[in-house]
This record gives sequence, C-alpha cells and structure tokens, in this order.
Amino acid sequence: MWGGRFASGPDAIMEEINASIGFDKKLFAQDIRGSIAHATMLAQQGIISVEDKDKIVSGLNTILSEIQDGRFTFSRKLEDIHMNIEARLADLIGPAAGRLHTARSRNDQVALDFRLWVKEEMARTEAMLTDLIAALLDKAEEHAETVMPGFTHLQTAQPVTFGHHCMAYVEMFGRDRARVRHAIDHLDECPIGAAALAGTGFAIDRHMTAQALGFREPTRNSIDTVSDRDFALEFLSVAAICATHLSRFAEEIVIWSTPQFGFIRLSDAFSTGSSIMPQKKNPDAAELVRAKTGRINGSLVALLTVMKGLPLAYSKDMQEDKEQVFDAAENLELALAAMAGMVRDMTVRVERMRAAAGSGFSTATDLADWLVREAGLPFRDAHHVTGRAVALAESRACDLAELSLEDLQSIHPQITPSVFDVLSVDASVSSRTSFGGTAPAKVREQIAWWRGRN
Ligand code: ARG
Repeated sequence: MWGGRFASGPDAIMEEINASIGFDKKLFAQDIRGSIAHATMLAQQGIISVEDKDKIVSGLNTILSEIQDGRFTFSRKLEDIHMNIEARLADLIGPAAGRLHTARSRNDQVALDFRLWVKEEMARTEAMLTDLIAALLDKAEEHAETVMPGFTHLQTAQPVTFGHHCMAYVEMFGRDRARVRHAIDHLDECPIGAAALAGTGFAIDRHMTAQALGFREPTRNSIDTVSDRDFALEFLSVAAICATHLSRFAEEIVIWSTPQFGFIRLSDAFSTGSSIMPQKKNPDAAELVRAKTGRINGSLVALLTVMKGLPLAYSKDMQEDKEQVFDAAENLELALAAMAGMVRDMTVRVERMRAAAGSGFSTATDLADWLVREAGLPFRDAHHVTGRAVALAESRACDLAELSLEDLQSIHPQITPSVFDVLSVDASVSSRTSFGGTAPAKVREQIAWWRGRN
C-alpha cells in the first residue's frame, strides 16, 4: 500500500507488531458504513463520478455479506480492517476502488469506525442498565416491608428494609446510565473528513457525512479529531465506575448467601457446586462479576497510560485502544447480564433477615431518639443513657426490647412503657419517614419516581 516509497517488504516481526486485523476486524460493519457515506458524499460533490460511486457501494455491500457469512479471508499482510476491505474492493471492482480513499486517511477512518462502534456499544450498555434497574425495582417493590439490618463498617447499625437497600443500587446504576448518556452526547461528532490531520483541499461536505452516519455534527478541529480518544476513555471510565458498583453488589451477594448470614438463596442457575464438598453451593457468578472489575479498571488505566505521552496528532500507539475497549465492553455486558439474572432469581429469606435485623441492638438509636422526644434529654445525654441500656442488655444476653420497664427505669427514671413502641424493628423502620428514608411508604415513593424514569 506504500510500495511507491519502500523497496522491500516488512520484517516478519514488524508485520506481527504492526498488524491489528486480529482484533479490528470487529469494526468491519462500521468501516463499510463509513466508506459508503464517504463515497456517496464524494460523488455528490463531484469529486468522483456517480458511476464509480455505484461500483464502490455495490462492492462494499458484497464485502459486507462476505464477512457476515464467514466467506471473507482476512490477511495479516494487509495490516488492518481498512486495508483488508479496500484490497478486496479492488479485487471486486478494479481501479474504481482506488478512488474511495480520496480526501480521507486511515487516521480519520479509524477514528470514525471506532466512534461508531463505541456509540453502539454504549447504547447497549444503556439498555442493559435499564434492564438491571427494572429487575431491582421489582425486587424493591416486593420487599418494601422486608426488614434487614442496615450496616456501617459491616456492623449492625439500624434496621432498614431490603427494598430500600435495593433502591440504593438503583441510584448507583441510574447514575451510571446518566454517565453513559452524557458520554454518548459528548461523542456525537463525526470525525470523517479530518483526513490525515490537516483537513483536505477537496471540496468535501462534512455536514453531509455527519448526518448520513447519524452524528449531531462534524468535529471542529482536524488535528484534535485524529488524535482524540476521549470517547474511548469516557466509555472505559463509565464502565469502570459501573463495574465498581457491580462489584460492591456482588460482594454483598457473596456475603448474604453464606450459611452464616443466610439472607438470600441464589438460584441453581447462578451457582455452582463443589467437586469434593457435596454440601456446597458457591456464588461463582457473583464472584466473577466482582473479579471482572479488575480487568475493566485495568483497561481504563491501560488506555490512559497509552494516551498520556502522545504528541499531536495521530501516533500508532493509538492502535492499542481497541482491545482494551472490546475486552471491557464484552465483560461489562456479561457482568450486567449476570447481575440482572441473579437479582431476578434470588430468593430473599425474609425470616432470616428479620431475625438479624432485631439483633445487635439495632434499635438503640430509636431509644436515644425517644429520650430526646419524650423525656426532653439533649441527644448527647440520651446517647449516654442508651449506651448504659445496651451494656445492661448485653450483660443479660438479651435485646433492648427484652429488658423490663424496671431495668430501663433504673437507668433513667423518666422512661415509660411507651418506649416499647419504638424498640421493635418494624416501628423503627416505619418511623424513618424523612425524604429518602427507609420507611416503606417512602421507599414506595422512590420506586414510583424511578418507574416513571425507567
Ligand atoms: N490500524 C490503525 C489504528 O488502529 C489504523 C490507522 C493507521 N494509520 C496510520 N497512519 N498508520 O490506529
């Protein structure tokens, strides 16, 4: 392809390090779409003849079906997807194929193909997040009244509902989806026509190609266009944050499904057995979701590191962008699908959650709040009195609600029988009616708000 300048072919190692066809063949459909739009624009602008354009378009469509049907032979000698397709076009239609590359370079071509691919991938990510949110909303609704211990430091803190806990993940995945939408919006500029880096002297119409390819507008600076991979970095950032959320959730699923916690039972469909220990049911899907985060975060760091030293404009380093994005995309999709499946299939062990919610003096804050409200104590004093009540209950190996009125009055004389109304987990949970709080009525309001946006 650059035979005019070179006397001999590349060394075998050069060919191996240089070729990207092994992975960028994934971009075939985007490459062909981009070339059809470019050729159509060239003909409309009178830069190539309509006859040549028709040959090019029909040749490209033939190549598209050859690749889709697995009848195309990719060649490493031809380096990348762009050259593989162009060479095949020359086989099919002869010299007219050579006119396709007028007013463009592989630099704007690859920027276009990759942007189109990332844009489509992010639409898939958005849809998968919507599906996961839908699964969580259903679980939250079903368990709006199911009490469980809420934790801080993984120590029992205050009772919450499982529905409220599920809705915390809805918020996280909702933010991920908003980030995906932002990233799609940022990316929505068309690179083709930037050519090698300086633009072109041919009278091309970049607005036409932008529109034909479904972009909002063309990019505004040709140098930036061929050296920009922010769209890939933004996808990877979004993916890394989302994977981090998935990993935290996966970690909770692993903990909840232990016999010691026993909060949920995973379905057989999302667990595995042990080859030696017949009693075991392992949460492998959750563990793998947790682990996928490592490679997705790694992809982000890898591409940031590739880009950080590059002078403007294009450098071949940028060819290393694709594998990171493809790998992260494939694994994020898997993780999102596995998580939605686990959420839909899991059995919530309501009685186990309730028993745990009542242990660990989870309503101690409710006692302190009662002392503030009913006995007029400053909160700091109420905290101290409650601490003594907890110590007493601990020494008796019972819960706060199991202490007698006399016991409680020995700690503070103003305590009356009405205190027992706030010491149950249900009373505690339904009293948390502040906006965004865990009271079932409030959780239902949040579910309805999200349903209107999902
Ligand atoms: N395979 C290359 C890549 O992925 C295409 C662009 C090549 N451009 C160049 N000037 N060598 O980045």
